[in-house]
Amino acid sequence: MILALDLPEREQALEILRGLRGRLEWVKIGLQMYLKYGAELVRETAAMGFKIFLDLKLFDIPNTVASAVESVAALPVSMLTVHASGGREMMEAAVKAAGRSNPDLAILGVTVLTSFDADSLAETGVELEPEWQGELLAKLAVSSGVRGLVCSPLEIGRLRGIVPEGVALVTPGIRPAGASSDEQKRIMTPSEAAEAGSNFIVVGRPILKAEDPAAAVEKILGEIDA
Ligand code: C5P
Repeated sequence: MILALDLPEREQALEILRGLRGRLEWVKIGLQMYLKYGAELVRETAAMGFKIFLDLKLFDIPNTVASAVESVAALPVSMLTVHASGGREMMEAAVKAAGRSNPDLAILGVTVLTSFDADSLAETGVELEPEWQGELLAKLAVSSGVRGLVCSPLEIGRLRGIVPEGVALVTPGIRPAGASSDEQKRIMTPSEAAEAGSNFIVVGRPILKAEDPAAAVEKILGEIDA
């Protein structure tokens, strides 16, 4: 399980992390916190013993993305996202930059954001249905060398059939039974996602908003184990 650390304040984040030490291995730091607290927060979180998934969803010309990956590779980061729609050359440049500067840094591809539907995709000039575009981008990302894909848990079945076993499927949109779905539309419970073949589930608000985040983590892990 990966905790999505989407919070406005560093102190709030560190307090939650202190309570989760030893219970949880992975933390996802996204744009909200990275743009405010930067590399320092990444180092602090890693120093507490957590592995870091830096969710920056990079998308730029290949040379710029490669340079950005080199900057991230100097930090204690284990996973970094790029947009698969940035194309083969961009993803290959990202994978190559990670390989030469920090072989432990895995590049993950983001296919179609779950906030897109057929109409909003068509407005950007993409006429394929989101699931077909997702499949196309997943294949492109894998053949460009990414080590994992971020996708909806509802796409796992479809993607597992077309991407090699070694490619990690990382799925947000997870809600324990009975939890508020917030604005997430296409959700699965942790155990459903695990059973479907997700390698990493990403969970944010069900833990962050819980009265006792450590208990919420234990409950989710218990549900998966059961
Ligand atoms: O709070 P919640 O569990 O919904 O958090 C999910 C996390 O996963 C957020 O950081 C969100 O940005 C991210 N995410 C997502 N859907 C995607 C890609 C990323 O919810 N398709």
